[in-house]
Amino acid sequence: MQRIFSGIQPTGIPQLGNYLGAIRNWVALQRDHECIFCLVDMHAITVWQDPAALRQQTLAQTAVLLASGIDPQAHILFNQSAVSAHARLGWIFNCVSRLGWLNRMTQFKDKAGKDRENHSAGLYVYPNLMAADILAYKATRVPVGDDQRQHLELANDIAQKFNHDYGVDFFPAIEALIPPGAARVMSLRDGTKKMSKSDPSAQSRIEMTDDADTIALKIRRAKTDPEPLPTDPAELTARPEARNLVEIYAVLANMTAADVLARHGGEGFGPFKSALADVLIATVGPIASETRRLLDDPEHLQTVLRGGAARAQAIAEPVVSEVERLVGFLK
Ligand code: AMP
Ligand code: TRP
Repeated sequence: MQRIFSGIQPTGIPQLGNYLGAIRNWVALQRDHECIFCLVDMHAITVWQDPAALRQQTLAQTAVLLASGIDPQAHILFNQSAVSAHARLGWIFNCVSRLGWLNRMTQFKDKAGKDRENHSAGLYVYPNLMAADILAYKATRVPVGDDQRQHLELANDIAQKFNHDYGVDFFPAIEALIPPGAARVMSLRDGTKKMSKSDPSAQSRIEMTDDADTIALKIRRAKTDPEPLPTDPAELTARPEARNLVEIYAVLANMTAADVLARHGGEGFGPFKSALADVLIATVGPIASETRRLLDDPEHLQTVLRGGAARAQAIAEPVVSEVERLVGFLK
């Protein structure tokens, strides 16, 4: 059975893009993989996090994952900082990775923007730590959204350079598992920007803890254009907001965009939005209420994470010890 590793940052409340781009696939992959899922709190602090909020969001993220169907007994769910192997291998990878490689990372450019000089060194070496997350477990398959594709290519470059420099065949190749539909869910306020839990406007995203009324209101207010929905999917290309709403509907209802337009093409956005709100509420509603129930017992959530960390540690420790020996650290 192949080993899966994936991570999600415990910043903000998980949103629909996280669910459709990541969490939903994680749940499905549990059927035929050995899975390790990680709340990457060390990645989170590459930009400022209020300490109390970080603790709370780590629990909230754990609750959403459990409510969505992650099984912490059959698989492993833990927070990154609890297993020291990540930091140790991350440092070694800082020394394997090249500045030229990091300079090409578009996510750093997007996040740091024009104010590059004022960002943390951690944000810059973020992809090296991500490579360490995966390779500390010698995981071979990594489910992520399309925005992480470049980081996984870098992780493969690091693994290959390590194997080459130390003359070993130690790290395996990593395969990205990128879901075909809804690989990128876009903002409800701007169809050209991805939906994100860090967007200042909560109206731009469906949060996985939103109740039915909130979901319906956010969809009613979602930005659209004045034209009715097209009947030909090709016409969606020039209409990013319409396209986003149609694609969200399509993945939730297990249809193609063409199927959705066969049913709703020619309609105004009013009736379509109300149909979209219904399918969203059917999926998100039960997860949101189970999340709220789990959050009433934070002790239980912490126990789940501690158990996961102990089992993760047992896998990563021998791998990272061997890497330390290979690079010449006295053991
Ligand atoms: P993050 O919120 O950046 O920690 O992302 C966690 C996971 O959710 C990653 O696999 C991302 O690729 C995925 N993801 C985040 N935002 C979106 C989005 N708007 N559409 C699709 N996938 C997303
Ligand atoms: N960088 C990923 C994101 O923002 C999160 C992440 C950290 C991750 N380490 C990982 C994803 C390892 C997959 C594997 O979405």
